[in-house]
Amino acid sequence: MGSRLERCRLIELPSKPDARGNLSFIEGGIHIPFDIQRVYYLYDVPSGISRGAHGHRQLEQFILAMSGSFTITLDDGIDKKTFELNKPNVGLYIPAMLWRDLNEFSSNAVCMVLASRKYEEEDYFRDYDAFVDYAHAGREK
Ligand code: TYD
Repeated sequence: MGSRLERCRLIELPSKPDARGNLSFIEGGIHIPFDIQRVYYLYDVPSGISRGAHGHRQLEQFILAMSGSFTITLDDGIDKKTFELNKPNVGLYIPAMLWRDLNEFSSNAVCMVLASRKYEEEDYFRDYDAFVDYAHAGREK
């Protein structure tokens, strides 16, 4: 098993193009590696604003730019990796225990998030230092 950052990956979804346009689909456990318990989305994000700035203990997510573009920087407490999302048929799989910052939202961006768990505030790390301490303690076990 590689590091958590190595387990993050862009996943290209199936697309059915025809003269009427494109259709893509996502089945939990098939196209993405978890069952979908929740969907939420960010839109009308003002220019220059950052979102995210948190980590999750257990939550896995799959994030898509349904429209427009934005960047996601993932951080395991040591290394960072940045992805640009700009296609509605290519999303980013994010396992648990990664800090994420979302930036550079284009004016028409819609960021859709598929999540493996219901909303649980206790699953969040909202303090970066606490996240790093916990991530490093886990590594030493
Ligand atoms: P937050 O997770 O802080 O947003 P960001 O994606 O920028 O980190 O969530 C903003 C608010 O929305 C916060 O009050 C919690 C609430 N919220 C829910 O009630 N349910 C949800 O599924 C999510 C993702 C957020």
